[in-house]
Amino acid sequence: MFETLKALNPDPILGLLAAYRQDTNPRRVDLGVGVYKDEQGHTPILECVKQADAAHRAEETTKTYVGPAGDPDFDTGIEQLIFGADHAARTARRLRTLQAPGGCGALRIAAELLNRAKAGAAIWVSDPTWANHVPLLGDAGLEIKVYPYYDGASQALKANAMFEALEKIPAGDLVLLHGCCHNPCGVDLSPAEWDQVTDITLRRGFTPFVDLAYLGLGIGLDEDAYGVRKLASAVPELIVASSCSKNFGVYRERVGALSLMLETPEQADVVFGQAQNVARGVYSMPPNYGAALVGRILRDPTATAAWTAELGFMRDRINGLRSQLADKFRTKLNSNRFDFIPNQRGMFSFLGLSKEQVQRLKAEYSIYMVDSSRINVAGVSQSNMDYVVDAVCSVL
Ligand code: LMR
Repeated sequence: MFETLKALNPDPILGLLAAYRQDTNPRRVDLGVGVYKDEQGHTPILECVKQADAAHRAEETTKTYVGPAGDPDFDTGIEQLIFGADHAARTARRLRTLQAPGGCGALRIAAELLNRAKAGAAIWVSDPTWANHVPLLGDAGLEIKVYPYYDGASQALKANAMFEALEKIPAGDLVLLHGCCHNPCGVDLSPAEWDQVTDITLRRGFTPFVDLAYLGLGIGLDEDAYGVRKLASAVPELIVASSCSKNFGVYRERVGALSLMLETPEQADVVFGQAQNVARGVYSMPPNYGAALVGRILRDPTATAAWTAELGFMRDRINGLRSQLADKFRTKLNSNRFDFIPNQRGMFSFLGLSKEQVQRLKAEYSIYMVDSSRINVAGVSQSNMDYVVDAVCSVL
């Protein structure tokens, strides 16, 4: 049966984690997979999550099925978090949210649903985009097309080229946008640029699809939601895949959501029913545990405030590291080559290194990053920062 299948190379991101774990160099540094790390290089369980876990275990009375749409408290909480409790699309009952197994599950269910609605529809993704977007969306049958986004020379947005490309995208196509903390480049749209994207979306009539995997890790919860809320207040239809992996630190529990905004409540009911049917045919129902904890936190204002504070701490640490890294590079190189790092948001930035330089960092210094030279800024700490900066400068 399987003789036609060939061995695959390791996943470009997850393969790094496996290689790092096998490396016995005591100075090894993991700047690969996008997980938050503290000063000790540990990915902690948030205190608010531990408390929700204790309460959940004490109160849970059954393990019976919840259903394809998942935990209703979670669905409501996430929808309010993303769009704002009083968003007009919510009050008009044009929004529906379905719990999914991680942001990946949400992306895939959306892709299957879209392919059901319009087989082979084109979806435009940014150049570059997260490597896993291509299989998650393309393997469901959507046709992947690319619009310009990141300019490696200026380490900034190719704004004009992006807008020109969007101006040519027809109605019936989809455009995938990173809501905040762009993965892999860290370059986000400003509010004015989101306004422009919204204008073009309205003029052209394509359907926006926002991937919101890092909400709250850029500038702040409301600031990071600016683009998605702007679109939701203007366009007739919107798709949002969100993840709680990073902002709640519940990576392995697989907690995400798919929010669908339609033109009318009746259409929303139809499409929501279809989405649940897609989920039923793929995994039947999402796992409950992680979403139950997030739902519990989001329905309790005290727990939500505790979470917001912990999220703020993670965000401030990442943004602080961005500034410190740029300062160290500036001092070491006597150049502003890396001054772009604090202008970017979220976990990731490209260092602008060649694949050979990235390989040397791995082979000679046990410093792991994606071949594109994407680093996870959160993997830097006070104890490894000089080592990382010196090593990078030595391979330039
Ligand atoms: C990343 O980009 O490193 C994360 O989103 C983890 C993953 O699954 O790739």
